Amino acid sequence: METSLYNQLAEKLADHIRSGAIATGERLPSIRQLAKREGVSISTVMSAYSILEEQGWVEVRPKSGYYAIKQARPSLAIPSIAHTEARPIVATTSQLVMDVQRNGFRSNAINFSRATPANDFPIAKHLQQSYTRQARTRQHLGVGYTVPEGSEELRQQIARHAIDAGVAVSPDSIVTSIGSLNAMGLCLQALTQPGDVVAVESPCYYGILQLIESYGLRAVEIPVHPETGMSLEALKLALEQWPIAAIITVSNFSNPLGCSIPEDRKRALVDILEHYEVPLIEDDIYGDLYFGERRPKAIKAFDTQGWVLLCSSVSKTIDPQMRVGWVMAGRYYEDILYRKFVNLVATPLLPQLACADILSQGIYERHLRQAREAYRQRYERLADLASEHFPSATKISRPQGGIGAWFELPASVNATELYHHAKDQDVLIAPGEMFSLNKQFRHCFRLSYAYRWTPEREDAIRRLGEWVTQRVSPTNTFDQ
Ligand SMILES: Cc1ncc(COP(=O)(O)O)c(C=O)c1O
Repeated sequence: METSLYNQLAEKLADHIRSGAIATGERLPSIRQLAKREGVSISTVMSAYSILEEQGWVEVRPKSGYYAIKQARPSLAIPSIAHTEARPIVATTSQLVMDVQRNGFRSNAINFSRATPANDFPIAKHLQQSYTRQARTRQHLGVGYTVPEGSEELRQQIARHAIDAGVAVSPDSIVTSIGSLNAMGLCLQALTQPGDVVAVESPCYYGILQLIESYGLRAVEIPVHPETGMSLEALKLALEQWPIAAIITVSNFSNPLGCSIPEDRKRALVDILEHYEVPLIEDDIYGDLYFGERRPKAIKAFDTQGWVLLCSSVSKTIDPQMRVGWVMAGRYYEDILYRKFVNLVATPLLPQLACADILSQGIYERHLRQAREAYRQRYERLADLASEHFPSATKISRPQGGIGAWFELPASVNATELYHHAKDQDVLIAPGEMFSLNKQFRHCFRLSYAYRWTPEREDAIRRLGEWVTQRVSPTNTFDQ
């Protein structure tokens, strides 16, 4: 019957949009093309399109056609702001961190725990070619150590790309490192003594907490608003109360919440640094992976006095295997250079040359455009799956970029138990406990949505949701 035909066609197209086979923003076939392809009448296609329009799956653009849009779904709320302890805490080793790290390499597991970029983009092939070409044509072995500041070609490319983040620096003010975490470690060594207090985000990327622990520092956790980043009000209070030696923040698309500090608050943050004369280590490792119209500026863009040490790497945009990172060290340049020498002597040349080669070509920008759109869609799919399979009291962050989302479960549900249970079933997540020193995120976890969705990955989300649902009694509510 013609009636069921147009319903069936509408359902089929909705399925394609839901699964991402038809991407958000993609133009659907014209009425005539679709009628021909499906072997149905023009009026059947017109009826199917008007159902999809009514249901919010497509929109009509005058003189252009039908375009897929994201359907308004019953979305889950965003996570709450953290209740932090307003005192510095001595960082203590989390065995859990190493358990998650080690298990993250199990090849048979469905992995949502690692914040690593997807490897299904063409950049992987370009990278391989670049390594091969550089290895063949450039002398990188038998040249002794390289200069401590790192490859000049790479530093030039880093300085060129920094303009996109609003940062104007000379290549001579950049020091290369073995990734961003190493860069932050060099900064902490230069800025602190054991026992000093460092202000960190809450929740905070666990690698930073482990750095703080390994240097014998104390951390004061500053709550992060799930949409606007580190609370400047709480930071000011902490600066009044404690002799804070340094602040660390992931300014754009923080890990794990995915939020960014808005521009006016970045300016205000720099005012705070100048007022209290305290340095800030900025980690902008996710800044290029924005979902919006333009790249957010770095805090460093507003820093005229050199209080900001901007760290980053290509671990999230190209490949963490490269181990190429850097720091723009501001007024601490000489000290950072010395720390790099003491820790590493120098960094290997070949990855730096390959990185400079990739950054100098248009393929990098093309890759970023593709990766941003893929990650945005992959997050949308995760949010859809979460609202389908998790209890409605679950909260999920709305990243404005990056590759990770933060889940907040009802307070009674232990996400570390979920981690162990899921691990036994070969599904890996990052338990919330690792993202703080005071165990306050036991009911939270982080999932990386970087990898392409497959039926197995989708089913794993269903299974995680089922486990949580079984543990949420009807009377359970969130502590507001
Ligand atoms: C916020 C943040 N900073 C730094 C790192 C580590 O980066 P790299 O590989 O450049 O050391 C990660 C990795 O997950 C991260 O999420």
